[in-house]
Amino acid sequence: TDRYAVIGNPIGHSKSPLIHGSFAAATGQDIAYSAIEGPLDGFADTVHAFRAAGGFGMNITAPFKLQAFDLATDRLERAELAGATNALKFEGSRIYADNFDGVGLVNDITRNLGVAMKGARVLLLGAGGAARGALLPFLAQAPAELVVANRTMATAAGLAGKFAAHGRVVASGYAELAGQRFDMVINATSASLKAELPPLPAEVLQGAGLAYELVYGKGLTPFLRLAQNAGVPRLADGVGMLVEQAAEAFVWWRGVRPDTRAVIDRMTIPLI
Ligand code: ATR
Repeated sequence: TDRYAVIGNPIGHSKSPLIHGSFAAATGQDIAYSAIEGPLDGFADTVHAFRAAGGFGMNITAPFKLQAFDLATDRLERAELAGATNALKFEGSRIYADNFDGVGLVNDITRNLGVAMKGARVLLLGAGGAARGALLPFLAQAPAELVVANRTMATAAGLAGKFAAHGRVVASGYAELAGQRFDMVINATSASLKAELPPLPAEVLQGAGLAYELVYGKGLTPFLRLAQNAGVPRLADGVGMLVEQAAEAFVWWRGVRPDTRAVIDRMTIPLI
C-alpha cells in the first residue's frame, strides 16, 4: 500500500480522502490516502516526517500552498508561474511541486460543462492565489481575451504583466467593466466565503453562457444569484474543479487516469 495525504489547517472539511479513495477503488490502485492537520508553525517538519515514513505524495491546501512551493526542490512551470503548489510528489531526495487547480478548472469547464474557452471572451474576477493558478491553463486554451478584474487594480495589473507572454490578458477594475460583454465569467475571489458580492456591474453578466463560482458546496452564492437573475443559462460551482484537480494529481502519482463523472455526480449539491 502506497501512502498519500492531504495537509491543511483546518483539514476536517477536506473531501480529498473521499475523492482519492473513490479513484483508487475504481482503478484498482493499492493506496491509502489520509488527511493531516499540519501545525501552523510546523508544516515542513510534518511533510518531512510523512516522507520519512514512506509517503509518496501530498495534496496541499490552505494555508500551506506557498510554504509547499518553497519546500519543493523542483517546480513545474504551472506551479512556478502560480507561485503556489497544491500537489507534491516525493522521489528519493527530490520534492516535485505542481499546481493542478487551474487545469482542473479548465477541464471542468471544457469537458464536463462542454463550454469551449478557445476564442471566448473570458472574465476572471479576483487576482489572489486562486485566480493566479488559473491564468496559465486559461491562456493555454487561447481565449480571444482574458480580462482579470480586481478591486485592487495594481494586483490585477501585476498578474496581467507577468502572464503577458502567454496570451492576450488584460487587467481591469470593476467599474471599467460596465458595458462590456463576456462569454463566461469566473469568480475566483474569496467574496463568496464571506457571502459577499464582488462589485460587478450586473449587465456584464448579460449574454454570458456560463457563470462559474470557484467556491463549492455553498449553493447559490451572491455571484451565482446575480448571474441567474441576469439570465445566464449555465451556473456551476467548484465541485467539478475540485474533482478534476484531484484526477490530475492521481495521474501524476499513479500513471492511471480515473473517471471523474461518478465522483462529481455524487458530490454535487444542486444550486438552488
Ligand atoms: P485566494 O487564495 O482565495 O485567492 P487571496 O489570495 O487572499 O485568496 O485573494 C482574495 C481575492 O478575492 C483577491 O483578489 C481579493 O481582492 P483584493 O485583491 O482587491 O483584495 C478578492 N476579494 C475578496 N473579497 C472580495 C469582495 N468582497 N469583493 C471583491 N473582491 C474580493
